Amino acid sequence: MHHIRSMTLADLDEVVVIEQQSQYAPWSRTLFVDGFKPRYENWVCCDDDRVVGFAVVQYLLDEATLLNLAVALAHRRKGLGQAMLLHLTEHLPDAVTTVLLEVRASNQAARSLYEHFGFNEYATRKGYYPAPGGRWEDAILMQYARI
Ligand SMILES: CC(C)(COP(=O)(O)OP(=O)(O)OC[C@H]1O[C@@H](n2cnc3c(N)ncnc32)[C@H](O)[C@@H]1OP(=O)(O)O)[C@@H](O)C(=O)NCCC(=O)NCCS
Repeated sequence: MHHIRSMTLADLDEVVVIEQQSQYAPWSRTLFVDGFKPRYENWVCCDDDRVVGFAVVQYLLDEATLLNLAVALAHRRKGLGQAMLLHLTEHLPDAVTTVLLEVRASNQAARSLYEHFGFNEYATRKGYYPAPGGRWEDAILMQYARI
């Protein structure tokens, strides 16, 4: 059975492994450490004591931005990504009305997850992400309106 709790610095070894198996251009450990400050929230999803997923969110006035989200390869398609989105939306500060994020155009798994959850696409940022072969890939901007 999984549970979601705040990330600690002691989780970073496991978090960085998941990040490296999840992203073409993974965040460094330093970037994760940067998220341990006011206006950020970092969560891990655990299966027993093992970290199997994480989410990083930043709050600014009435907006929350989901900066990073990943689930370990062996634990995907078990509802954990959706569970972390639910946790995020259930723990928004009162002032937040909208959750924003950016996702690679080719990332069908993540786009499906977000659409399934209730995010809408509202813009495209051309050539935003580095991609294999020296190419650049569009970012799809998505938003979720708090009810
Ligand atoms: C995107 C990601 C977080 C999804 O996590 P997950 O725990 O596997 O997702 P869930 O099991 O909660 O999926 C919920 C729904 O999302 C959609 N979905 C998730 N993965 C999908 C896939 N590979 N293909 C199609 N739809 C998918 C489905 O609608 C799914 O519901 P279903 O299983 O009942 O069909 C995971 O694939 C991942 O870590 N990817 C690499 C990192 C990444 O891309 N992060 C997002 C950056 S913006």
